[in-house]
Amino acid sequence: MTENDTLRERIAAELAAARDRTTLLTTIVDEADLVRQHSPLMSPLVWDLAHVANQEELWLLREVGGRIPMHPEIDPLYDAFEHPRAKRPSLPLLQPDEARSYGHEVRGRVMDLLERAQFGRTQLTDGGFVFGMIAQHEQQHDETMLATHQLRAGAAVLSAPPPPPAPADAAALPAEVYVPGGPFTMGTSTEPWALDNERPAHVVDVPAFYLDTTPVTNAAYAEFIADGGYDDPRWWTAEGWAHRQRAGLRAPLFWRWEGEWVRVSFGIANPIVPNEPVLHVCWYEADAYARWAGRRLPSEAEWEKAARYDPVSGRSRRYPWGEETPSPSLANLGQRHLAPAPAGSYPAGAAPSGARQLIGDVWEWTSSDFLPYPGFVAWPYKEYSEVFFGPEYKVLRGGAFGVSPVACRGTFRNWDYPIRRQIFAGFRTARPAAERAL
Ligand SMILES: [Fe+2]
Repeated sequence: MTENDTLRERIAAELAAARDRTTLLTTIVDEADLVRQHSPLMSPLVWDLAHVANQEELWLLREVGGRIPMHPEIDPLYDAFEHPRAKRPSLPLLQPDEARSYGHEVRGRVMDLLERAQFGRTQLTDGGFVFGMIAQHEQQHDETMLATHQLRAGAAVLSAPPPPPAPADAAALPAEVYVPGGPFTMGTSTEPWALDNERPAHVVDVPAFYLDTTPVTNAAYAEFIADGGYDDPRWWTAEGWAHRQRAGLRAPLFWRWEGEWVRVSFGIANPIVPNEPVLHVCWYEADAYARWAGRRLPSEAEWEKAARYDPVSGRSRRYPWGEETPSPSLANLGQRHLAPAPAGSYPAGAAPSGARQLIGDVWEWTSSDFLPYPGFVAWPYKEYSEVFFGPEYKVLRGGAFGVSPVACRGTFRNWDYPIRRQIFAGFRTARPAAERAL
């Protein structure tokens, strides 16, 4: 098999995996649920369904294949920049059947195109980039649709086996790991499917620090609540405190007090699992918890150094465990489970520092604003990342249980507003290493 054939097979497999997941998320509810808006924060599921097909048509059939638009009149309906999510239900959207057949038709033509595709004749197709971009895009919308499922009221429809129990050594793990100071390579110039905001590779000097070995757990977060963390402005930034007051925050989203803390997960209420990483907290809550604990959130550079830097080789790895593609023994990704695994899981996926679960389980808030790396070039369009750069967005790293391996790596950057809680986000805390001598 030629290198091109291998690439073609990988692309076909990734596109098929994304479509299988989209199909699951959009056939497990009835048509009324597909067109309904479950939260003003989210699009109706039927919008996502046609939007992924529209982006696939735009980039693969039109840009790469040079085809004429199939339905130019619908393009504006599915332009994410033209209509905010809250307004999307009032648009003359394709009905579920129409959206499905549009997606099916686009995909059929894409598979024909892929058969004959020559990679590397243009920058767009080099290493199969634009095909990888579209597979990642659909998986990212699948993650968004999973968040819509979590917000949806009504009987549970999704199911999956629970994550494996914590490994034997989890309870005895040190609370924090040491990451040595010095320069390391952040970002990438070589990962073929990396997006523009992950590029280029550049050297960053990061002083030594300590990082939590695992994400902060429900039990630890419940202590913050019990200690009056939500009522003490000392732990909150001014904006964070104002938001906490305005929004009436008292606990993570989907938690409720019934004599004990209960969490609703995909329509099923259960007492919180003490050793599970906390989920659905906003940046302000994560930041307040860290201050209460006498610590702080890690910066984005610290997070990436802890996840990628190998002090033995001096190089940065693709993933905490090395170069190997994520698999079920390394990380909780790909919606195999509908919850994060207990803190301390996946010893085989640990970073050289000993930190666990940096990839998978929960997105992790960092202290950093979403900014371009030195030498950033918008590619292939400035609405991918460039228009979002600025202090209004905070960076999240690592990916959650609902993130596909194709859209997750040590360099992958996610961003959102510091008030957002519907995303599958938790966090871990850090402190400077200089404090060690005290
Ligand atoms: Fe999109």
